[in-house]
Amino acid sequence: MEFDIAVIPGDGIGPEITGEAVKSLEAVGRKFGHGFSFQYVDMGGCAIDKYGVPLPEETLNICRESDSVLLGAVGGPKWDTLPGSLRPEAGLLGIRAGLGLYANLRPAVLYRALKGACPLKPELTDDGFDILFVRELTGGMYFGARGRKKTDGGEAAFDTEQYSVFEIERIGRVAFNLARQRGKKLCSVDKANVLESSRLWRETIHRLKEEYPDVACTDMLVDNAAMQLVRNPGQFDVIVTSNMFGDILSDEASMITGSIGMLPSASLGEGSFGLYEPIHGSAPDIAGQNRANPIATILSAAMLLRVSLKLEAEADALERAVQKVLDSGLRTADIMSEGCTVLGTAEMGAAVRAALDEG
Ligand code: IPM
Ligand code: MG
Repeated sequence: MEFDIAVIPGDGIGPEITGEAVKSLEAVGRKFGHGFSFQYVDMGGCAIDKYGVPLPEETLNICRESDSVLLGAVGGPKWDTLPGSLRPEAGLLGIRAGLGLYANLRPAVLYRALKGACPLKPELTDDGFDILFVRELTGGMYFGARGRKKTDGGEAAFDTEQYSVFEIERIGRVAFNLARQRGKKLCSVDKANVLESSRLWRETIHRLKEEYPDVACTDMLVDNAAMQLVRNPGQFDVIVTSNMFGDILSDEASMITGSIGMLPSASLGEGSFGLYEPIHGSAPDIAGQNRANPIATILSAAMLLRVSLKLEAEADALERAVQKVLDSGLRTADIMSEGCTVLGTAEMGAAVRAALDEG
């Protein structure tokens, strides 16, 4: 089959890691007889430099016309002093909202081979863990009213957390349906002991729960969830939460998988179209040095194959190739442990393709 993929390399390590993910898709195409055509578009800091805006209309249009989008990362110190609406991150929020991608899936899995890179005591991860974060992506504090005002205490700034029943229900349904296909456990994370928006969140999830009697659904306060993730990560199956809490907890979860360089994500709306990106940032400190871990982006490409293109066997093969490479002791610097061999970005990408070709 033939597929059109829009690629947004972005800034920092973005071009290096998307480069390896694109090559891994091409390798999948050769092995399984598919054709991918990649269209490269600008977003983030590089778009600010070229066009003066982080998300050119042209980028959004090309993404809309594609079967799905593969994204590296955006941002860097060069653009840190720009006003909020002109920062590279505004491009990322703009594309998520512009494409209606309200459901962000972030699987956090501890690979057997990476147990040594997990900072938790070994006995805490004896049974491993496989958590799927379902993060609401187009609402909450990221998109609520914000601004500055004068107060008696001087200048003040505010950001607003707002969720409607509609928004909570639609992300809730995504999470319940995914839990149904996995371990049938859903934990809804909020701060209902303090926040009104969380109280509505909780009420709405409780109402929805009636429709999914086969899923064991519990609530957890976000501070407790942050603690439980490092105390007993194996207790979780699917976690559903707001934009802000999901941002924070998924970084925490990534660390216990060994490295933030391991976590892929899929951002979905209605239908099969999606945007796929690693959860990590643009890591400007190591950009252009062939040191970044391309695995999160390669695994994002695997999610793209499975979720948007419905190529299950192809996605499995790519994920198996990553696993095989890790099992054989090959590592990038971020997941390095004793007795393993450290590889650069390009070499890691090549190793994954070699394992794919063999497998
Ligand atoms: C993420 C990132 C983004 C977010 C930033 C770069 C705006 O941290 O995808 O988790 O907060 O959503
Ligand atoms: Mg984040």
